[in-house]
Amino acid sequence: MKRLVINGGKPLHGEVYISGSKNAAVGIVAATILANDICVLENVPDVSDIKIMLDVLTSLGANCKREGEIVEIDTRGINTWVADQDSISKMRGSSYLMGALLGRFHKAQVYLPGGCSIGPRPIDQHLKGFSCLGSDNKTEFGRVTCDASNGLFGNNVYLDLMSVGATINIMLAACTAVGNTVIENCAMEPHVVDVANFLNAMGASIRGAGTDVIRITGRRDLHGCTYAIIPDQIEAGTYMVAAAATKGDVIIKNIIPAHLEAISAKLMECGVEVIEGDSGTEFFMHVRAKERPRAVNIRTLPYPGFPTDLQQPMTSLLAVAYGNSFVTENLFEDRFNHVRELNRMGARITLNGRTALVAGVEKLYGAEITATDLRAGAAMIVAALMAEGTSIVRNIHYIDRGYEKLTEKLRGLGANITRVEE
Ligand code: EPZ
Repeated sequence: MKRLVINGGKPLHGEVYISGSKNAAVGIVAATILANDICVLENVPDVSDIKIMLDVLTSLGANCKREGEIVEIDTRGINTWVADQDSISKMRGSSYLMGALLGRFHKAQVYLPGGCSIGPRPIDQHLKGFSCLGSDNKTEFGRVTCDASNGLFGNNVYLDLMSVGATINIMLAACTAVGNTVIENCAMEPHVVDVANFLNAMGASIRGAGTDVIRITGRRDLHGCTYAIIPDQIEAGTYMVAAAATKGDVIIKNIIPAHLEAISAKLMECGVEVIEGDSGTEFFMHVRAKERPRAVNIRTLPYPGFPTDLQQPMTSLLAVAYGNSFVTENLFEDRFNHVRELNRMGARITLNGRTALVAGVEKLYGAEITATDLRAGAAMIVAALMAEGTSIVRNIHYIDRGYEKLTEKLRGLGANITRVEE
């Protein structure tokens, strides 16, 4: 059992360096399959979801070497379109193997992806996109088989909802299809743009990523490249919330300020001081708080709206706000597993469907709490850092999926946190 022991109540102070984006990296690692060549990726976060993806690529025949934050992936040895490793069903990003294998081999068989338990997570839009490109898809025995033996052909794909996963997966399959593809109503998240930029660096022709219409002209001659992954928007946002929650004073380095506008705006509405800066070599965000936050309402939305991945840590902050906040989760049906745990720490949160009414209390108290998914884990960390007394956070393997060197980074900010593994 691995757990974190946190003695809370200490303001965070100092500087923290943000790692590469986990959600961009899972897409980009899968995309290297299309290169059939050597890709050198910089700023790759060392988190368990990326380890799983690299292990899966290795078992398909790729050669993956990590040195610090740089990972070299040679996908010339991959000669199978079947990915049936058990680990695939543990993570959502493994769905990108479908688009990448389909693009390279015109066939793919992949275990249905898993991922955090935050409600039903269908892949109908991914499969609809593949069908539009000429693939025949079947789901049986927990596997998806996509067959485009006659080739992939560009087409118009209209997504019923703005899905990050479907947008990336369809881009992967479409960038080697014959002709032009237009994806409408697509997701605009920073990691969608980063995967598109990486594919373009490999020789693909993708325009419009970051808007709701992406246009792709298929090319067969993709090649290896060197590419630096963007900083993790959600890791940065989590440290911003933790700084505010502990009434700390933290400089968050290696960020892209535009990606953090929604969280900066909400923190400022809470009365937190948030200052964007540019050191000349990099951007940083300075977050400082002296008082309890003011209550604010939050509605999660696709980018550039407030990110669902920060709803959970933000709920921890609002648990100690002056006044009542409404937190509405519009993306996932069941992303409130952290509420029960926060209430065990003294919070007063009532759930009504997809809205949580957070009645602010003066403080939280340490308790034994459980991380039920990745960002619920982040919420537990924020709560434990500001709570009076000691908290024990269980199930930290969820947190390891997406936060690189969490204990070290928080200790660097003065937190009293210990990782216990037995
Ligand atoms: C990605 O998940 C991220 N995961 C999630 O981060 C993030 O919360 C989410 O995007 C939203 O930003 C990765 O990038 C690996 P979606 P994804 O497809 O792609 C519905 C984290 O904590 N939908 O944009 O699975 C779906 O059920 C993780 O880092 C369909 O109905 O999200 C949801 O309600 C958790 N049919 C909504 O769309 C589909 O075919 C948005 O999901 C696809 C999605």
